[in-house]
Amino acid sequence: MAMVVKWGNSLMDNTVESVTRAGNEHASNTCCHSFGDGQSPEKMQGHWVLARAGKRVLRPGGLELTRGMLAAMEIGPEDRVVEFAPGLGVTARMVLRKHPAAYSGIEREQAAAAHLQKELASSFAQIVHAPAEASGLASACATVVYGEAILSMQTMEQKARIFAEARRLLRPGGRYGIHELCFTPDASDSTRREIQAEFSKEIHVGVQPLSSPEWAELFEKNEMEVIWNATAPMHLLEPGRLLRDEGLWGGFRVAFNMARNPQLRRRITAMRRVFRRYQAHLWAISMVGRIAKPAGLSGFGEQIA
Ligand SMILES: C[S@@+](CC[C@H](N)C(=O)[O-])C[C@H]1O[C@@H](n2cnc3c(N)ncnc32)[C@H](O)[C@@H]1O
Repeated sequence: MAMVVKWGNSLMDNTVESVTRAGNEHASNTCCHSFGDGQSPEKMQGHWVLARAGKRVLRPGGLELTRGMLAAMEIGPEDRVVEFAPGLGVTARMVLRKHPAAYSGIEREQAAAAHLQKELASSFAQIVHAPAEASGLASACATVVYGEAILSMQTMEQKARIFAEARRLLRPGGRYGIHELCFTPDASDSTRREIQAEFSKEIHVGVQPLSSPEWAELFEKNEMEVIWNATAPMHLLEPGRLLRDEGLWGGFRVAFNMARNPQLRRRITAMRRVFRRYQAHLWAISMVGRIAKPAGLSGFGEQIA
């Protein structure tokens, strides 16, 4: 049964019940109005603005990059999976359909954790209301850890803490997958600073992406060999990606909500403007590391549309 535990509580229940409802990739349509509560509409973090507009896929490279990451992690029935920041549970549902031995989602936002608890109530998933860097889970409890669109919004120190937590949770041979924002090789320091400032101003998220070699370095520092990586354009709010990620009905849902709510429309239009302005310098990237011999990574891997 899914459960929410309070911050700092320790769990990794070994009991595995059967999955009685694998669920759909997309969360129900009735969620999300409480996400970002306490933040004024003009200052609300961009991902909660998108969630309130009915967008369910909140990671920069979309479902295609997610599928690549899941395939590279090779999740099977013997795996014990931990997800950092499951958000609306889109990837959680994809993973639960692979029937892993255990799944725990570590989510910092109370409203998202409560939503997930409800959504996944009939599966064996455990939802922990806690920050990823201090999950409270037992050491070496997992064979797979992953997180999407969480690290880019953390400081360098926080990124290091979250990587260290993933490393602590993983058993030898374990895999860690990330799906984040990535500066392209030609993004100068001043462009990087400009992008960070624009994200703070328009999206209200203190975003600090890294380049591909900088992401790879975090894996190496934590004794993980990067075994797969791929990039995708930052097309989160482009019509083609929106339709591929949300489907026809989901695309209508977002368009309808934007049409009837000028505040949402203004915020989302401003976000798309920022993404378009910097699309030559900002990509989505996914990497999977495995605890094994350290090795370097040079350049970019496959490119996903
Ligand atoms: C952009 S959303 C991404 C949600 C989901 N992973 C996805 O890709 O659709 C960011 C999520 O990260 C969560 N989050 C941010 N910092 C966190 C932390 N330190 N620990 C756990 N969750 C965190 C937020 O609450 C939110 O659910």
